[in-house]
Amino acid sequence: MNFLVTGGAGFIGSAVCRHLCANPAYRVTNLDKLTYAGNLASLRPIENAHNYRFEQADIRDERAVLAILRRDDIDVVMNLAAESHVDRSIDGPGAFIETNIVGTYRILNAALEYWRGLSEERKAGFRFHHVSTDEVFGDLPFDGGMFVEETPYAPSSPYSASKAASDHLVRAWHETYGLPVVLSNCSNNYGPYHFPEKLIPLVILNALDEKPLPVYGAGANVRDWLFVEDHARALELVATRGRPGESYNVGGNSERTNLGVVEAICALLDLRRPRAGGKRYRELIGFVTDRPGHDRRYAIDASKIARELGWTPKENFDSGLARTVDWYLDNKWWWGPIREQRYAGERLGHGSVAKSRPSPIESSPAGYAAESRKATT
Ligand code: NAD
Ligand code: TYD
Repeated sequence: MNFLVTGGAGFIGSAVCRHLCANPAYRVTNLDKLTYAGNLASLRPIENAHNYRFEQADIRDERAVLAILRRDDIDVVMNLAAESHVDRSIDGPGAFIETNIVGTYRILNAALEYWRGLSEERKAGFRFHHVSTDEVFGDLPFDGGMFVEETPYAPSSPYSASKAASDHLVRAWHETYGLPVVLSNCSNNYGPYHFPEKLIPLVILNALDEKPLPVYGAGANVRDWLFVEDHARALELVATRGRPGESYNVGGNSERTNLGVVEAICALLDLRRPRAGGKRYRELIGFVTDRPGHDRRYAIDASKIARELGWTPKENFDSGLARTVDWYLDNKWWWGPIREQRYAGERLGHGSVAKSRPSPIESSPAGYAAESRKATT
């Protein structure tokens, strides 16, 4: 079975590539633009695997995507390429509209053209799997309720609004053109190779640097945390065994307040890398101005994927967090260059919107063709 994974140099996409490549019956093409969040170092464990190849391309480049689909005889597309950080979407929503909405539209077009040219048998087996988030469902109250697949969409941030728009496009391509799509909406992931702009890796690395640990508001907001390797297993099941037209919620059944998460990281670090002079890491916690439009709580009811596809998480939050902290302690080769050269941990998402400029691929046919050539050579 031949997979095209988009966004495979990112946090979850790289976990999916590493997971799929362990199966010798699979061949995996990783298509990634390599934005600030893309990192080929995350693919080091499989970079020489016989069943893995990398292609630098933009999902907005329909012709490049179509050429790769045909060249590699793809059976399953897993679309993870996205701008993914809520705080960056507050500062600059333009890139989120471009990749998450326009990019999804373009890759759907490429997939549809490719699918229409397949034999009837391969057409029936083809899947376009769109990987989405629980954030499309919006804000839950603290005192109850969970997201099910039928929960109406009510996104709050530019990020979640762009993901919601992309989910709607994917469903429309199924209803209107018959493209066999599946969708999944997952809760907050954490684990190895997580870009240190997100809460868990940011707190681990700031603590190791003796820097303040920024908790937004009172730290009372709740997220449902899932270890990334459990998500990768769920995604393989949805992509290969999910029913066309259906969506599946994926979650860790591990709701925690943000303050609880930060305190748990501090407690693990106190044991594994004690601070000098008997100080505690929790003394570095600082409460900072809240994120604008901050959703209070997310919680996933993952009973459909358990019932239909037999998936449950293997890690609980304590075991997964311990593995994650240990991984960051052991893998400075991966995060050191990121903290030095790409992102040092400064506050994002204050809410002053940067005006978006159209990218060359959108504004000039010459730019588009040039990107196309670059992507397919
Ligand atoms: P990430 O930011 O770590 O990685 C995104 C990857 O996409 C990067 O490698 C980047 O280079 C690539 N990319 C960006 N724009 C591109 C474009 N135009 N063309 C090709 N590649 C492009 O994100 P992640 O956390 O791994 O999330 C992956 C997917 O899972 C996203 O769609 C996200 O919405 C979804 N998701 C994430 C979480 C989470 O907790 N991180 C939870 C649920 C769903
Ligand atoms: P984040 O990791 O950005 O994921 P998401 O916004 O997609 O849920 O944030 C997780 C939670 O942690 C969210 O409620 C915001 C909060 N947060 C902080 O309190 N401090 C921080 O420095 C960051 C990045 C996030």
